[in-house]
Amino acid sequence: MNQKKKWVAPSILSADFSRLGEEIREVSDAGCDSIHVDVMDGHFVPNLTIGPPVIRWIRKTTKLPLDVHLMIEEPIQYLKDFRSAGSDWITVHVEACKDVQATLDQIRNLGAKVGISLRPKTNVKAIEPYLKLVDLVLVMTVEPGFGGQEFMPDMLEKVRALRPQFSGLISVDGGINLETASQAAREGADIFVAGSSIFKESNRKNMIEKLRRAVS
Ligand code: DX5
Ligand code: ZN
Repeated sequence: MNQKKKWVAPSILSADFSRLGEEIREVSDAGCDSIHVDVMDGHFVPNLTIGPPVIRWIRKTTKLPLDVHLMIEEPIQYLKDFRSAGSDWITVHVEACKDVQATLDQIRNLGAKVGISLRPKTNVKAIEPYLKLVDLVLVMTVEPGFGGQEFMPDMLEKVRALRPQFSGLISVDGGINLETASQAAREGADIFVAGSSIFKESNRKNMIEKLRRAVS
């Protein structure tokens, strides 16, 4: 994986789930770099989405990496299922794990790329002990749980604080549009997760291209 390349990662949370395969094929053909899949359990966040059985079908619709964002309590008990369903990158929340290191180690042992995420209220210091164990840090730029919320500009400070101490990929997730993507890119973010700003457009290809230009 080229660490210098900026990734545009559509979040399928804002896709039409009755046509999920077509939606994913459309953004894949439009030249995005990965597919972001939001998993919510109704405990860690006040919303419910999908689990491994759906990911298994999503896996068949695209060759792009599946970047699976687990917003679930104690993800360690489900990691094997998410991996065998076809997740390439698995990101867990630092706040959701009793034993963060064991959770990250298990993702690594399952052969997936390892990600850690933090809620807006969580200080960057909470993830610093784990930076050597992960390939990706996902900075939440909205409160996790729902698409279509407004970007929290204060979160740019986290990207700024992380960049000099972390050589892996920094992802920003929540409220990403042309303007906020370009602000995050200036702070050194690598991956731009965008749900509503891509899926609300009738011409997704055009939007993905615009996002790519905004971050490069
Ligand atoms: C929120 C999710 C995001 C969400 C982003 O908890 O992690 O990935 O889909 O949606 P937008 O881009 O609409 O803010
Ligand atoms: Zn997400």
